Amino acid sequence: MKVNRVNTYVKGLDEVMQGGIPEGSVILVAGKPGTMKSSFAFNILYHNANREDKAGVYVTLEQGRDSLLTNMDGLGMKLGGLEKEISVLDLGMIRKKLVQLTNQTWMEVFKMYLKNLKKNMDIDLVVIDSLPILEVMARFDSPREELFHFFEWLRDMDVTAFLITEMEQGSDKFCSNSEDFLADGIFHLDLRRDENDVKLWFSIVKMRQTHHSRSYLPLIFDKDGFEVVTD
Ligand SMILES: Nc1ncnc2c1ncn2[C@@H]1O[C@H](COP(=O)(O)OP(=O)(O)O)[C@@H](O)[C@H]1O
Ligand SMILES: [Mg+2]
Repeated sequence: MKVNRVNTYVKGLDEVMQGGIPEGSVILVAGKPGTMKSSFAFNILYHNANREDKAGVYVTLEQGRDSLLTNMDGLGMKLGGLEKEISVLDLGMIRKKLVQLTNQTWMEVFKMYLKNLKKNMDIDLVVIDSLPILEVMARFDSPREELFHFFEWLRDMDVTAFLITEMEQGSDKFCSNSEDFLADGIFHLDLRRDENDVKLWFSIVKMRQTHHSRSYLPLIFDKDGFEVVTD
């Protein structure tokens, strides 16, 4: 059966995973602070909107909407003209709805927000920045069980989802509640120091339905955007 794939618009990357990410996957984007996870995920939404008219929502729970958009603008990804394709949702906007709908939990409001975007904008892509913050806001009582249901809910939404997870200094763990077992794919972004330079490395740790490279490849960002160096 043919698998439809989502392009990452990271030069060199789609080629080492059979053309892209299987549509409908739930992908972890894991890395320590400052490894460009937010920029990397926004890049996927931005170029899918710009070049394929695919709509997406960026849920920013760590950083306010304006701060995120200022950062992305600085990287050459301007939202201007793409308001129909990209929606950016932050904690403040969810809180406002929560105040109006007093009998609903945070998670119910969050899901309702996304469902409405699916209905009104027909979103194909969802980024959640970050999953650990979502877990805190949703106050999961039994995280593993509730995460399992959340991943299933995302799959039922018929979107390709990118969940950003924050790795701790000195730890090799991609996440804290076995999200890596539930995910269909894992991207790892890693800053490594050599003699006098710090470089960003990228690996496809896991990608279901896909033959892929597992090598750590240099990830660079310049005026032409992101690129993994494969030669
Ligand atoms: N061209 C570039 N190359 C490398 N890093 C950059 C470049 N432009 C900006 N940065 C920096 O990358 C850092 C991390 O970006 P961000 O996506 O917020 O990381 P994360 O979400 O992983 O914490 C920011 O401090 C940003 O200023
Ligand atoms: Mg970030």
